[in-house]
Amino acid sequence: SLIPVILAGGKGERFWPLSRKHRPKQFLSLDGSGKSLLQATADRLSELAGSSEKLWVVTSAQLAQGVREQLPQLLEKNVLAEPEGRDTAPAVAWSTLEIARTYGEDAVVAFFPADHWIEDQQAFQNTIKAAAELASKEDAIVTLGITPNHPSTGYGYIEQGEQTGTFGGLPVYKVSRFTEKPDRETAEQFLATGRFSWNSGMFIFRAGVVLNELRTYAPEIIGPLEEKGVEAYHQLPKKSVDYALMEKTQLAYVLPASFGWDDLGDWNAIERLLKGDAANVELAQHVGMDTKGAILYASDNDEVIVTIGLEDIVVVRDRNVTLIVKKDRTQEIKQVVKALQEDP
Ligand code: GDD
Ligand code: MG
Repeated sequence: SLIPVILAGGKGERFWPLSRKHRPKQFLSLDGSGKSLLQATADRLSELAGSSEKLWVVTSAQLAQGVREQLPQLLEKNVLAEPEGRDTAPAVAWSTLEIARTYGEDAVVAFFPADHWIEDQQAFQNTIKAAAELASKEDAIVTLGITPNHPSTGYGYIEQGEQTGTFGGLPVYKVSRFTEKPDRETAEQFLATGRFSWNSGMFIFRAGVVLNELRTYAPEIIGPLEEKGVEAYHQLPKKSVDYALMEKTQLAYVLPASFGWDDLGDWNAIERLLKGDAANVELAQHVGMDTKGAILYASDNDEVIVTIGLEDIVVVRDRNVTLIVKKDRTQEIKQVVKALQEDP
């Protein structure tokens, strides 16, 4: 059986000021559906696993209460609260250990980011089921490859090796190389070869397979966790699973993912989801003169945003903060948030 785990400890700083310390991106509803990204992810995965009893979430202690409030259907023991965020390698290592203890080392575990948008639910289910079937038969760490459309430096890149078979009608390839967040020049070279896809951030494997790989490639993470459990957290390095495991393992496979995917990385993603033919994306009362390509958001329905002669900007009003930024610089919001010592 398949055990889905949601990685929900991130901060989502690029959506500040809408995302704040206690209300990170995954807790927000960004598509106007009323459901938060986390809730939409949990619904999708409960359906996949056949029940919400098998669904796990790993998050920070700071966010655990919020996770339980948003997902009251979760079993108490299935919410793993990390004392402090150490990025995704410790989160994956600790939860895989807990899952192996609960269901055995042969359990197929699947990790999912909390904050992605998936268009075609049926195609998503079919792809994950094919990946799970592959993982149950081979010593495999299965990734899902997204067809890239620009040389982004914010993703992992997967180089496709030889095809090893077909699962659920999908071709399966060995991964010949995994490169996390390359620089622009490298990303351009990768794209030009036509052999690379973006890593979706979802990983499917048998628990025992990844525990063994971690013992080989990340003993400084898995060692203390096996010895002391969650008490080991304060001594663990901050490292993502992409650097700690995926760049090193020889067991990576990739399935093409064609279900419609967006990682909702920053405000521009809202435009990709909602814009259509409109001049602007208006999630606020907006009066615009000569304004186009703007993304406007106000948390309070009573607020009116007025713009004159503007193009390609993002305006966000939330409580005591107004953010105004050019669309091509929204990645830098992260730096501002770090610089503002306290979350205003
Ligand atoms: N529990 C826990 N603890 N979760 C975390 C932590 C942590 O310390 N840090 C991040 N997460 C969660 C985030 O909430 C998110 O759901 C997921 O883990 C991935 O973290 P990100 O910080 O968003 O990773 P990324 O976007 O930079 O890169 C990853 O995703 C890309 C696709 O969106 C990588 O896997 C890339 O290779 C991939 O292309
Ligand atoms: Mg991300």
